[in-house]
Amino acid sequence: MRSSAPGPSAPGTALGRERKPGAEARGAASVRSRGVSSSSQAGMAELQEVQITEEKPLLPGQTPEAAKTHSVETPYGSVTFTVYGTPKPKRPAILTYHDVGLNYKSCFQSLFQFGDMQEIIQNFVRVHVDAPGMEEGAPVFPLGYQYPSLDQLADMIPCILQYLNFSAIIGVGVGAGAYVLSRYALTHPDTVEGLVLINIDPNAKGWMDWAAHKLTGLTSSISEMILGHLFSQEELSGNSELIQKYRNIITHAPNLDNIELYWNSYNNRRDLNLERGGAVTLKCPVMLVVGDQAPHEDAVVECNSKLDPTQTSFLKMADSGGQPQLTQPGKLTEAFKYFLQGMGYMASSCMTRLSRSRTASLTSAASIDGNRSRSRTLSQSSESGTLPSGPPGHTMEVSC
Ligand code: BEZ
Repeated sequence: MRSSAPGPSAPGTALGRERKPGAEARGAASVRSRGVSSSSQAGMAELQEVQITEEKPLLPGQTPEAAKTHSVETPYGSVTFTVYGTPKPKRPAILTYHDVGLNYKSCFQSLFQFGDMQEIIQNFVRVHVDAPGMEEGAPVFPLGYQYPSLDQLADMIPCILQYLNFSAIIGVGVGAGAYVLSRYALTHPDTVEGLVLINIDPNAKGWMDWAAHKLTGLTSSISEMILGHLFSQEELSGNSELIQKYRNIITHAPNLDNIELYWNSYNNRRDLNLERGGAVTLKCPVMLVVGDQAPHEDAVVECNSKLDPTQTSFLKMADSGGQPQLTQPGKLTEAFKYFLQGMGYMASSCMTRLSRSRTASLTSAASIDGNRSRSRTLSQSSESGTLPSGPPGHTMEVSC
């Protein structure tokens, strides 16, 4: 394996190059959440009023950590990834994989630079993968270039981990990236400690989907089709600043031809063939996330029905549109914190006063002392202090 990263080598990483990421934090917004339910079945939600953590952007004094970008050669071509933070002993890396039309920054920056997220991610090294040809400044692939399938993109991940000498990850993926990480987890279960899957569609396109896709393709540009994959129709017609920003990014992307290749690979994905209790299933704790009214809501609900309910939490977010990590980084940060707690990684001592007071009664002794238990950490108590009950698998519906 060799690195193809241009520029001078970074210390300790013979073939890496260093970059200073920009600090584009979202504005603060106070969010009131209602409707957190605990149930193994999505339809059996019991609604409770809860106050959820105030949202905080990165403070002016808080600077993002330095990033190092690397490229490695794999059997399916070169892949670029950016590492933030330093490896922490006995902790997996957080590895992200973005959706079609985006790169790691446009997909994850809002979430990972969110103020409250800092206390979480400072405990982990992060590896943000750019799908081939999606990295900033990527040259356009030559005509006829055979872009990797999503399965082959998953097969590139071991090369990245081997290069970094990392043995375990917690994956965070959106859309196509969620599929890639799930495929990787199915083939390398021993290296995946947990998965956060936003907008996952584990199914191959059926002929009805293909017919609809072909019809849409007759009247829409590639960029509009991808926007329709990323955002709800309501959001697109609302044309908010966020939509204008992403429409502009995608429509004017210098690598739009590469983006189309990733889009084609997504549309040609195989069925993951997940089967509850069957041979093909995700073995690690999984947090499924989707916005209600989001384009992929039904697919994520179906995915939830195919996973082990004792290992799976399902978070349906109201008022988040198609990209909860962009529109609701505060809620997602909080859910991620609970998810990590359930895996024994977030002691209550490293949590904010606000969330500590709410979650102390929920956090098992095992998770406080670092012993990794799969407890019901994603459920939240109501303000009146009612503790959630029921099996570890559960549904949270979060609305503003
Ligand atoms: C991070 O700290 O992991 C991060 C920073 C900027 C963009 C994406 C991720």
